[in-house]
Amino acid sequence: MTTSDKGNLREEFNRWAEAGRGAGMEEDHLPITLPVLEKMRLEPTDNVLDVGCGAGWLSRRIARMVPEGRVVGMDISDEMIRVARRGSVEHDHVLYVTGEVGEIPWEPNFFTHAISVESAYYWPEPGKGVKEMFRVLRPGGTAWILINYYRDNPHCHQWGPLLAVATKLLSAEEWSGLFDEAGFAEIAHERVADPSPSPETYTGRWFRDAAQLKAFKTEGALLVYGRKT
Ligand SMILES: C[S@@+](CC[C@H](N)C(=O)[O-])C[C@H]1O[C@@H](n2cnc3c(N)ncnc32)[C@H](O)[C@@H]1O
Repeated sequence: MTTSDKGNLREEFNRWAEAGRGAGMEEDHLPITLPVLEKMRLEPTDNVLDVGCGAGWLSRRIARMVPEGRVVGMDISDEMIRVARRGSVEHDHVLYVTGEVGEIPWEPNFFTHAISVESAYYWPEPGKGVKEMFRVLRPGGTAWILINYYRDNPHCHQWGPLLAVATKLLSAEEWSGLFDEAGFAEIAHERVADPSPSPETYTGRWFRDAAQLKAFKTEGALLVYGRKT
């Protein structure tokens, strides 16, 4: 990965954070994230890593589920990390660190779970990111990647050229292959449909029209997960 890839990502997501887009993502991502949190079966003592944590809404939600554990939110954008810290002052077991997923600034074998929501298709070296998630998990720990932009859902393919940074449009099989190469066992993938109500009309730029937005939500996000044995 080049320094400019990393710099572009940091600058772009710093702009998102400055424009207040970090906090706004909770509303869009919560409906697909809630079913994943249920599947993770978190215990009060768990240590959880949130990769590409953005403004920290998910780290805070997880913190309430693991009151005796620790949550670390990590993001390449130092501005997102500042927003996340400001919003989490009442949680003394949540910590935010700036870092790139290809080099997670944490010791090996620490976390019981690692989750990443709507971030992995931005990673310049996705295989390296998955390997790093494996490294920081303790044996028995699980990794969960949830993304709305992936090859098997044709209703998101138009996003690539609309985004200001490079993205990776991988299939469910390709993501699972990266989990396999990293050393994960019990690898599986599934779709998580977005049950939130869809508007009658759509005027944004991400979808052709309301019908395509509805089709996209029905097709669902891709969840890939595995266990470090
Ligand atoms: C679309 S936002 C999602 C943020 C958050 N997970 C949420 O659901 O609100 C993607 C986030 O991933 C972060 N990100 C992108 N590439 C990254 C990388 N290579 N390493 C670490 N974080 C990254 C971005 O800075 C951004 O905050």
